[in-house]
Amino acid sequence: MARSTQTRSSDSPRDAIALLKQDHRTVSALFEEFAKADEEEQSAIAQRVCQLLTVHATIEEELLYPAAKEAFDGEEENEDLVNEAEVEHGSAKELIAKIEGMAGDDEHFKATVSVLGEYIKHHVKEEENELFPQLKKTDVDLKELGGRLEDRKLALMEQMGIEAEEEPQPRKRSARGAARSKSANRRPGSRARH
Ligand SMILES: [Fe+2]
Ligand SMILES: [Fe+2]
Repeated sequence: MARSTQTRSSDSPRDAIALLKQDHRTVSALFEEFAKADEEEQSAIAQRVCQLLTVHATIEEELLYPAAKEAFDGEEENEDLVNEAEVEHGSAKELIAKIEGMAGDDEHFKATVSVLGEYIKHHVKEEENELFPQLKKTDVDLKELGGRLEDRKLALMEQMGIEAEEEPQPRKRSARGAARSKSANRRPGSRARH
């Protein structure tokens, strides 16, 4: 096969919570980048955010939330945390669909991305401060779950044709990274030279 399959960076899977928190950081950095970017760079950043959020939401819905519900069996307050998270995903996905269908020059484009950013910030806070700590108290095997999350994530990214860009690598600039990077010296419309 000409195309290589994306594989895990190491054989030992990351803990599920560490993996999901890393996703949260990646997305929140992109929202910050969006806020500071030129108008012409914003569409690409928004597209990337929407894709990464779609992958993240899918692996949580398919794997994390069912595992959490099972582990919380009978604990109503904790089950409610999962139900709330699922409802929030529904609303986030509506915003994502809206953004994906919007032209970059739509007068509500920036505002819709900002609203999504605020919404995700709230959702992430609830997951990290409430859901994840409760999940840690259960007997869920977080390493095993982390392995499944990562495998599914890589498969989805490959399916969607999007690049993995997990760990922050400030000094390594891919072509995509260079295209998205915001240099104060660059004039609008100018292209990165090779
Ligand atoms: Fe979530
Ligand atoms: Fe999440």
